[in-house]
Amino acid sequence: MSQPQFRTPKGTHDVLPEDQQYMTYIKKAVRHRARQAGFKRVDPPIYENRAIFERGIGAHTDIVEKELFLVSSKQSGDDAAELALRPEFTAGICRAYIEHGMQLLPQPVNFYAIGPCFRHDRPQKGRYRQFHQFDFEVIGLKDASLDAQLIQVLTKILSDLRILDRLTLQINNIGNSDNRKMFAQAVKDYFIGKERHLPEIDRNRLQTNPLRLLDSKEEDTQILLKNAPRLEQFLDAESKDYHATVLDYLETLGIKYVENPGLVRGLDYYNQTVFEFWDQSTGAQNAVGGGGRYDSLMELLGGKPTPGLGYACGIERIIWHMKEAGVQAPNKDNVDVFVAQLGPEAKKSCLKLITDLRELGVHTVGALGEASLKSQMRLADKFQAKYTLLLGKMEVKEGTIILRDMKAGKQKQIAFKQVVPMIKKLLGERNLDTYTLKDQLGPGEVDDD
Ligand code: HAM
Repeated sequence: MSQPQFRTPKGTHDVLPEDQQYMTYIKKAVRHRARQAGFKRVDPPIYENRAIFERGIGAHTDIVEKELFLVSSKQSGDDAAELALRPEFTAGICRAYIEHGMQLLPQPVNFYAIGPCFRHDRPQKGRYRQFHQFDFEVIGLKDASLDAQLIQVLTKILSDLRILDRLTLQINNIGNSDNRKMFAQAVKDYFIGKERHLPEIDRNRLQTNPLRLLDSKEEDTQILLKNAPRLEQFLDAESKDYHATVLDYLETLGIKYVENPGLVRGLDYYNQTVFEFWDQSTGAQNAVGGGGRYDSLMELLGGKPTPGLGYACGIERIIWHMKEAGVQAPNKDNVDVFVAQLGPEAKKSCLKLITDLRELGVHTVGALGEASLKSQMRLADKFQAKYTLLLGKMEVKEGTIILRDMKAGKQKQIAFKQVVPMIKKLLGERNLDTYTLKDQLGPGEVDDD
């Protein structure tokens, strides 16, 4: 086969129908748990003023320093040069909270978001340049019970998707900014004279963001850190107390966790609680989700001091775990009825028949080309249709149609005008796809994406 002229850009992929089933299923689980817990959906734009990410996430983080996709436009003179694709949702949602005066709403304001994010990462397994997140944020109130409850919503989602037992909840408290400043200074002092033993990447981090040394993947750094000052030595009483209360509430809710003093997260806006869900076998590599508290972010973005808390999960990584665990997402794209026809008159009748069946909520596919009946039947097999309807010249003349049960391999001739009620009966009212109809009649599930 010749090579296609165009391919998806590096680090991106097409979400083909097989993965759409997983995507839809995950979104449903997210929406369901979000509604139960009073979260409302918000969609910030896919691109925003780059300063929102730079100020929010932090100028010296990998995400901002190396991974922002800048958006440019052929129009000169507008603000295009100042825009960037969102690498995450949190900063944009906080910008929306300020922009729409949401501090006037009852607090906390609970939001969730689902959609693509963009990071110019080095593509590898589980790491893409365009990926999807679902994200939860609790803004406007600070209480340790909110931290525990938010983590509980995520454990419920992961449990609904049947992958919770493959993961461990890692949790830490990184104190307030004064605590971290003192710690950063102590780490810098500790490394005086030892810098040259650090790998280059961590030598730079020591200057710009010493906290990040704690979760360095470099073995040399981890060895050197063994005798270094530890962050927990610098936590104030309030942070320690807050952490103990969060852990107490997690226990009350029956949520298992692992205390991890090395967990610091890669975004600068966090304070106090931070957590991640790790793969039990690979650990920190490719965390499925992570988050924490960000009580100073709103001020960085020009708002009033407002506490916040949230997390995000990578949908591709969740799909990977579901497949590994043998969890099959339900397939709603099945074909109920395949309609085969022969001759111009039959074709016209079939056009109408297909419409009637679809209106009823029957998944119907028709072979309206000029193929032979035999090849149409082969197609019906490929579509794995439950029933096939055959309308040839003879049947049109007689006012009949052939109904074939594909699994049983049996067929019978019935009156054409009986075919729609017959299919309805065979499939069962319950199995008809009447989503939008139900929705118009009253409260039903809205199957948006
Ligand atoms: P994050 O840890 O940067 O946190 O990303 C959350 C999740 O997104 C990761 O655990 C991972 O599953 C997924 N993810 C991140 N980068 C990639 C990538 N290149 N390819 C595939 N998946 C990826 C945040 O984004 C914070 N905004 C979370 C948060 C919300 N904190 C407070 N509120």
